[in-house]
Amino acid sequence: MDNSPVLRRRTGAAPHLLQLAVLLACSSQLRMVEANSWWSLGLTPIQRPEMYIIGAQPLCSQLSGLSQSQRKLCQLYQDHMSFIGDGARTGIKECQYQFRQRRWNCSTVDNTSVFGRVMHIGSRETAFTYAISAAGVVNAISRACREGELSTCGCSRAARPRELPRDWLWGGCGDNVHYGYRFAREFVDAKEREKNYPRGSKENARILMNLHNNEAGRLAVYNQAHVACKCHGVSGSCSLKTCWLQLADFRRVGEFLKEKYDSAAAMQIGRKGKLELKDKRFNNPTPEDMVYIDTSPDYCLRNETTGSLGTHGRYCNKTSEGMDGCELMCCGRGYDQFKTYKHERCHCKFHWCCYVKCKRCTTLVDQFVCK
Ligand SMILES: *[C@@H]1O[C@H](CO)[C@@H](O)[C@H](O)[C@H]1NC(C)=O
Ligand SMILES: *[C@@H]1O[C@H](CO)[C@@H](O)[C@H](O)[C@H]1NC(C)=O
Ligand SMILES: *[C@@H]1O[C@H](CO)[C@@H](O)[C@H](O)[C@H]1NC(C)=O
Ligand SMILES: *[C@@H]1O[C@H](CO)[C@@H](O)[C@H](O)[C@H]1NC(C)=O
Repeated sequence: MDNSPVLRRRTGAAPHLLQLAVLLACSSQLRMVEANSWWSLGLTPIQRPEMYIIGAQPLCSQLSGLSQSQRKLCQLYQDHMSFIGDGARTGIKECQYQFRQRRWNCSTVDNTSVFGRVMHIGSRETAFTYAISAAGVVNAISRACREGELSTCGCSRAARPRELPRDWLWGGCGDNVHYGYRFAREFVDAKEREKNYPRGSKENARILMNLHNNEAGRLAVYNQAHVACKCHGVSGSCSLKTCWLQLADFRRVGEFLKEKYDSAAAMQIGRKGKLELKDKRFNNPTPEDMVYIDTSPDYCLRNETTGSLGTHGRYCNKTSEGMDGCELMCCGRGYDQFKTYKHERCHCKFHWCCYVKCKRCTTLVDQFVCK
């Protein structure tokens, strides 16, 4: 376990006067665009610090979507910012993959609000979005530590697992999920923690919901990190193994969180201002579970008020009875059918030794599109 550089570093130092001016100038602007979020860091690649130190460009004031306290963290951890952007991007992409066959498909709408007004609704989909993007940040920062990209962390210093066979070496450079988790908690939650709504209010319930789901996302990455090993020894004899801590493939994190989405718990604000189960017959959610407070819109029709994009024009599968089937996807409105050419690799042959040669086949297939 390493010490907590995230929490301890430079907390005593007052912000530079110029930085303070920047903070103040930005805070009034931020309040107007509530839907604005650090997620927007994922939409445009962020310049690496080396590039702006020379040109003395104030990186943090140029980034849009940061809350006041996130901007402060940006000043302290400028070299982390491009990785937060990478993490947000990874999270958004995975969200789009997991929801590709559903009415709400996690599409981004513009650069400033990223997912649009649907995020105003405290739905399951919103819960997933918060979790997967927090997970993306843990993932990106943990890896960046390992690769020596950040000045405040390095390889994982996790203790040797007890069950590791005695003659295997522990100490390959591992992904620093401890640091990644802690930094993501500071950065991602900062936005929620700076708001101050009355206990028991709807707004406060939403903050509790966001915080819970951020944590669920971070834990998914943290808990799925595993031990990986590499063989050494005379000509592949594997007499010696070196092991380290390694992040799980992010697709697995996405699949895990998708299951948590399916089993997410419906909550309401309780008497003490905390979230409690709507239906007491269910088990209380653990920190790894997702929670939501609003029922989802059906996402069938385009609606400017809710931000639903609707499913008009979406591809569907005529024979499927699932969410990707035309019946459910098109919400009973029906579909248009047309024929299109599909190109595929086919008649693949294995040649000795060692390559596979394929032909390119074109077939005419039916496509179905929601009315
Ligand atoms: C979004 O960002 C892209 C690329 O940076 C830019 O070309 C586009 O104009 C932006 N759109 C809006 C609505 O700001
Ligand atoms: C959009 O959604 C809101 C809230 O559910 C609803 O009151 C309104 O009628 C909808 N508007 C349209 C055009 O469907
Ligand atoms: C997601 O849905 C939107 C709105 O229906 C649509 O414009 C977009 O093409 C869809 N994206 C994918 C990858 O299917
Ligand atoms: C459509 O759904 C059926 C049944 O679930 C499945 O077997 C088939 O592969 C799907 N077709 C496409 C093009 O995805």
